[in-house]
Amino acid sequence: MEDRHLIPTKSTSVGPNLHTEVVDPYYRATSQLTSLLASFEANTAADVGCGYAGITEDIAIALPPKATLYAVDTDPEVFPASYKPASCQVIELVQDVYQLELPTQVDAIISRFLLLDLADPLAAVTAMRRWIRPGGRLLLLEPITTTGRIGTRAIASASDEIVDQDIGLRLYDLLAALGAEEITIDAFTPVGLGASLAGRYLGAMTGVDPAPSTFISLPTLVLACGHIQ
Ligand SMILES: C[S@@+](CC[C@H](N)C(=O)[O-])C[C@H]1O[C@@H](n2cnc3c(N)ncnc32)[C@H](O)[C@@H]1O
Repeated sequence: MEDRHLIPTKSTSVGPNLHTEVVDPYYRATSQLTSLLASFEANTAADVGCGYAGITEDIAIALPPKATLYAVDTDPEVFPASYKPASCQVIELVQDVYQLELPTQVDAIISRFLLLDLADPLAAVTAMRRWIRPGGRLLLLEPITTTGRIGTRAIASASDEIVDQDIGLRLYDLLAALGAEEITIDAFTPVGLGASLAGRYLGAMTGVDPAPSTFISLPTLVLACGHIQ
């Protein structure tokens, strides 16, 4: 069974200073996110906790050429040398989400794989909310890690940094706590064999090298979107 039958997966080169090829099996979630951004006609946005191999470039490509995207992370080492295919302006900010200070309010804030590492996700989304203009959107992508399977075995993350590996289950409540309206929730579960890109992604995530023919189901990724007034 070839990978493309189950999980067509996108590869992203994350910049000449990092020399890393990154495989993102969650590209369907990214694609849904960028479609949402296009439907909102966002001209200003921020990717908070953008990381070195995240979706900043995908977001930048989806925004109109005159748009501005703030890429925010506490770690100054994560930023690539360029966001080549994007035509909009990308401004990098080294900041902590809890003390977020964007130059201006934005149409949309996006955050992927950040809240699961944080001790106080509600404080983090509250800080994000302050920088979304009335009528703007907050888009959160976080996993329900324990839905993942290697064969029939459940997945647990090997990372010590993770505070709540199932934070995806809390996204609706977090958006509701902010008073967000028109909350939509979507979920994505990439699957593939152990030898597939999904299997390799899992191996990198858990340290477990799955057998080539073992069926893998990656953790469900929840995409939650709320309208901020
Ligand atoms: C797991 S990575 C996710 C990166 C990227 N968003 C993605 O989807 O692949 C989490 C990122 O959040 C950053 N981070 C952690 N705590 C943060 C904080 N308090 N404020 C801002 N960024 C933070 C880390 O430096 C890291 O780059």
